[in-house]
Amino acid sequence: MSYRLPDERVEELLSTVLQSGKIDRERDAAFLVYDLPYLREKVDAMIAAFPKTTLHAIAVKANSNPSILSYLNDTGIGLEAASVGELEIARQSGYSPDKIVFDSPVKSRQEIEFALQQSIHLNADNLMELERIDKTLQKMSSKSNIGLRINPQVGVGTIAITSVSGEYSKFGEPLKENRQKIIEAYCRYPWLNAIHLHVGSQGCDPVMLGNGICKVFELVCEINDELEQRGFNHRIRIFDMGGGLPVSYYRNRPPISMQEYSDMIRKTCPELFDGRFQLITEFGRYVHTNAGFAVSRVEYVKRHKSANTAMIHVGANMFIREAYHPGQWHHEISVADQTGRIKTQEPEESWVVAGPLCFAGDMLERNVYLPPIEEGDYLIIHDSGAYTLSMWSEYNSRSKPRVFGVCGDLVTERLGD
Ligand code: LLP
Repeated sequence: MSYRLPDERVEELLSTVLQSGKIDRERDAAFLVYDLPYLREKVDAMIAAFPKTTLHAIAVKANSNPSILSYLNDTGIGLEAASVGELEIARQSGYSPDKIVFDSPVKSRQEIEFALQQSIHLNADNLMELERIDKTLQKMSSKSNIGLRINPQVGVGTIAITSVSGEYSKFGEPLKENRQKIIEAYCRYPWLNAIHLHVGSQGCDPVMLGNGICKVFELVCEINDELEQRGFNHRIRIFDMGGGLPVSYYRNRPPISMQEYSDMIRKTCPELFDGRFQLITEFGRYVHTNAGFAVSRVEYVKRHKSANTAMIHVGANMFIREAYHPGQWHHEISVADQTGRIKTQEPEESWVVAGPLCFAGDMLERNVYLPPIEEGDYLIIHDSGAYTLSMWSEYNSRSKPRVFGVCGDLVTERLGD
């Protein structure tokens, strides 16, 4: 399996969608296409890289399209939900409560009670939340597994805005400062049988992710020893290592594979894989990014002495990070004609690729060399399967692009919310 869809495959998928009769050129000025078998291959590669008993709770925030999530349901994966809305999407997509992990950093008392009633795995963000859970459990019984999110404080990586594991983070309990308090909490609450961390997303070296996992695993060993010494019967048995594996948005920069990542963790932390612990992962970007691409018709081509601009139908509403932090995020862009054929001429001119929103910074590219662009062409924004439509902004009240899944010759509309 290649780490991203080759251009020829993207071209084939786009032509299939355009010829399917499902595209209305007026309404579908922009749309998203997923290669469904490829998506499944990504999931299969992830499952193959970890012990069979691992629960792979895919992060709903990466792609919240219920139809895509239900398509993946029979692979045996689960879902990670970061809000009650995402819990509802998980339910609608056919996932049973025992396959769902609830992780929101800001859970109300009512939301905690709801998750406990449903016996959904719950990861508390902090020690105060543990107190709330304890109070709730005094009134009711629950089969939920419950963990605490630890910030292993292993570094910020290259993208500060999505970094969650620096010395300071708004997420989790900081390991250095609160180690003893964390240990005491595990001794106090017999129902606390899991532990959680997440380092990432994107911009964090896999080695840093691995360091975070090792640091938290050392803590788990210390806690379990302490529980034994103090004569308690309960132990931490579930280790949720989060997601965060970076993917590649570039044609010629292969990323570390899931198998290599898993081997790296296994090498530095072999006990984690020896069967004593139920493992949970929460990958999102790895699964969805490279399986989907966005397409927009070029509505106008503007020529000005300082720049050529292709005006398209998606911008900061779907690519919020790319518009606001252009140096940190990148998508390869191809130009295709109206039939979906990718233009291969050598680029001679540089282009601004501008979105439709009413603010000047609404741009996907400010200076990109592309083959000649004409009104009515399509621009393909590669590797757009994760954190795009799920981060949709309603500014200017434009309609959300439709989503199509392709499997062989079959094109199906993947209904969103
Ligand atoms: N688990 C937790 C608790 C998370 O917060 C996240 C992502 C994941 C799992 C999945 O991480 P992944 O494997 O997808 O890297 N483009 C977004 C990224 C935010 C990701 C937040 N958390 C943004 O720009 O905000």
